[in-house]
This record gives sequence, structure tokens and C-alpha cells, in this order.
Amino acid sequence: MTTRASWNSKLGFILASAGSAIGLGAIWKFPYVMAANGGAAFLLVFLIFTLLIGFPLLLSEFVIGRHSQTHSTQAFSTVTGKKIYNSIGHLGNIGVFLLLSFYSVIGGWILLYFVHTLYALLTGTGTKQYDELFNTMISQPIYVLTGQFVFIALTALIVAAGIEKGIERASKVMMPLLFIFFMIVIIRSVSLEGSMAGIIYFLKPDFKSLNQESILFALGQSFFSLSVGFGGMLTYASYLKKDNDLVQSGVSIVGLNIMVTLLAGLAIFPATAALHIDNTEGPGLLFVVLPHVFDQLPFGQLFYLVFLLLFFFATITSSINLLEINVANATRGNETKRQRAVVLIAVLLFIVGIPSALSFGLLAETKFLAGTFFDNMDYLVSNILLPIGALAFSLFTGYVLDKRIAADEIIISRRYVGLFKIWIILLKYIIPVVIIIVMGSLLIK
Ligand code: ALA
Repeated sequence: MTTRASWNSKLGFILASAGSAIGLGAIWKFPYVMAANGGAAFLLVFLIFTLLIGFPLLLSEFVIGRHSQTHSTQAFSTVTGKKIYNSIGHLGNIGVFLLLSFYSVIGGWILLYFVHTLYALLTGTGTKQYDELFNTMISQPIYVLTGQFVFIALTALIVAAGIEKGIERASKVMMPLLFIFFMIVIIRSVSLEGSMAGIIYFLKPDFKSLNQESILFALGQSFFSLSVGFGGMLTYASYLKKDNDLVQSGVSIVGLNIMVTLLAGLAIFPATAALHIDNTEGPGLLFVVLPHVFDQLPFGQLFYLVFLLLFFFATITSSINLLEINVANATRGNETKRQRAVVLIAVLLFIVGIPSALSFGLLAETKFLAGTFFDNMDYLVSNILLPIGALAFSLFTGYVLDKRIAADEIIISRRYVGLFKIWIILLKYIIPVVIIIVMGSLLIK
């Protein structure tokens, strides 16, 4: 018997999709990638890409997902009758697997920090040398592999249990709490002496600091952060019933994701300026800076522990969506196969993720092309596969998909007629050209 699951409520879908978008991309990756790629000018380019490219592509995924009501490696043939277009789904399926293989490494770091902070709190111990702590923690194979393993296992457990239970309910509490915690951190961060320089750094663009590569990073970051290009949003929308306003859901998701990106920046950069921490610290930026800020608060360690829990929640709601793509494609709608598929994919993920996990210790000196194994995986996924996936979605929706299907899904009220026309123009002419130019200019270089 094949039974398809579906969302309990409209809010459930928005929360789950926003949960999928908001995660490491906005909170952990954005600040350090921004710092390495031109500061506030990068932020501006990222925002433009998110609104003019990411948002339209999010709608594409929604339209294809909801109309087809099926997994991403079959959705394209369901809406066109031609199997060849399913290759877009297959590309996403592979891309998302690779993404999750290194995403889970950072998910594991959060768990390690959580355990460490809990231990420090209970025993009254702890260090103030956060730089050293970070480097020690992520360079020990046993720690990072355990963290990664537990992160994948927890994600797998939730996905094995089906799509809606738990996620919907927990999101309603955890997401608002995450916002509140960010506000607390920001207030403390901007009130530190010397923080002004950081606020200016975050908000005042200097376009001379941008180059072709940083524009590609901004593009990749906008896809990574919104979870578009690999069919994750398509997958969630395939569990959606007809009465949902896709535009409204899309606006909420993009809005929330941008908000968290800005909150993360405002939490971190004023603090780095005040505490004289180097912005170009790389993947450790958040893990080194935030404990310092929490130290400046009463009950700082306890607050930090709760923050880590919320950060972990934001991260796992993204990895759940990523894993769901692979699982939905493996089970092809047959829910009886779910458990077995989850276990198999989770084991493979862990194995493929090992070199990424070891890239900060044992394999730190093994460098090629973009850097360590981790750097290469991230570069391949964020700056090559995601833009290609996004390009494919854009061309497919702009040129192949029957416009009546698209109109039927989008225009549920008269006020979306104009928006629909702009959307099609963006998908047909603007988005493909921008992606090709940004990627092409690097190839030529
Ligand atoms: N959109 C997800 C994140 O940024 C992948 O964490």
C-alpha cells in the first residue's frame, strides 16, 4: 500500500519550510563567508540574489512539487510527460547527499559544544580560551566523528518517523525562541565597548572589496541558505494540499531567512570588533565569538547552552529536509520502505562524510583545488552544483513547464497576476543569464 503523508496545517508547512531554509547557512556560514568575501558589499549582493533569484526559484520548486505531488526524481516527468527532465531531480538528489555529508560535520560540532558546555556548567569548570577550545575539539577524530554520527542518527530517527509529527509542533516553540535569543545576544554584542566599528563593517558596503569569486559565493550562499536548487522545497511542497497560498508561504520563508541572516551578522560582527577577534577566522567564527559574548551576560553559560540547543534545532530542521529528499526518492512514495531507506542512506552519508569530518585535524594538511576535502565539498556543492541546479529549475519553469500549470498554482488571487508575469520574465531571461555570467566569468578567469 502506498500512502502519501501531508502537512497538518498551512502554518505547519511554512514552519517546516522555513525550518529547512534557516540553519547553518544563515547562522554559521553566512558570517564567515561574508567576512572572507568583502563584508557589507557581499551582504548587499546576497540580498539582491536572494530576492530576485532565490525567491522566484523557491516558487518554482513549490509549483512543481505541489502540482506533481511526488518526489523530485519523478516530479518533472509528472508535470511534462517527459522523463528526460527528471535528470534535474537526479542532480539535486546527488547534490543534496553531498551537501548533507559535510553539513552533518558542523551539526556534530554543535553537539560537541553542547556536551562540553553542559559539562562545564555542571562541574563549574570551563575555559575562556575559546579559540584553543575550538581547535582542540574539531581536530580530534574521535570527537568529530562521534558528533557527526550522532547528528546523522538523530536526523535519521526523525525522518524515519514520518514527515509531520514532532517537527511542526516543535517548530512553533523553537523558532520564536531562537529569535528571542538572538535579540539578547545582539543587545549584549552592540553594547560592548568598541562595537560600533563592527556595526559599520556589517552595514556599510565597500564595493571595491568585491571580486568575481565573491559574487559567485554570494550566489551560492543565497541558494544554500534558502535550500533551493536541489528540490528540497519541491519535496516539502509535494506534501502540500491545494488550498495553500504559495506566494504568501514563499514570502514568509524568504523574509524569515533574511531576518535570521541579519540577526546572526548583528550578533557576531559588533562582538568581533569589540573583542578584537579576526573576522576571517573561517568556519570557527561563530563558535569562537559567541561564547565570549555569552560570557558577558549574567548566567552566560546557561544562556549559551540554551542557545546551542536552539541553534541545533535550526540545523536539524534543515538536515531533516535534506535527508527527506533522498528518502522520498528512494521510497518513491511507498511509506513501508521508509525505515530501511533511511538507515541505508544514513550509513552511506556517514561514510562519505568521514573525510570532511577529518579535514580539520588528521587531513588538515591534505589540500587540493579549493583547499581541504571539506572546502572542496562545500565549493562543489555551493558554488557549482547548486547554481547548476538553480539554472535548471529556472530554465525548466521558464521554458518547459506549461504556463497554465504554473498560473494555476500561483494565481489564486487577482493580485498575483502582475507578480506572475514578472516571475516568468525573471525565470526566462534574467536568472539564467545572471547565473551563466557569474559562473562563466570565473571559468574564463
Ligand atoms: N538551507 C539550509 C541551511 O542553510 C541548508 O542550513
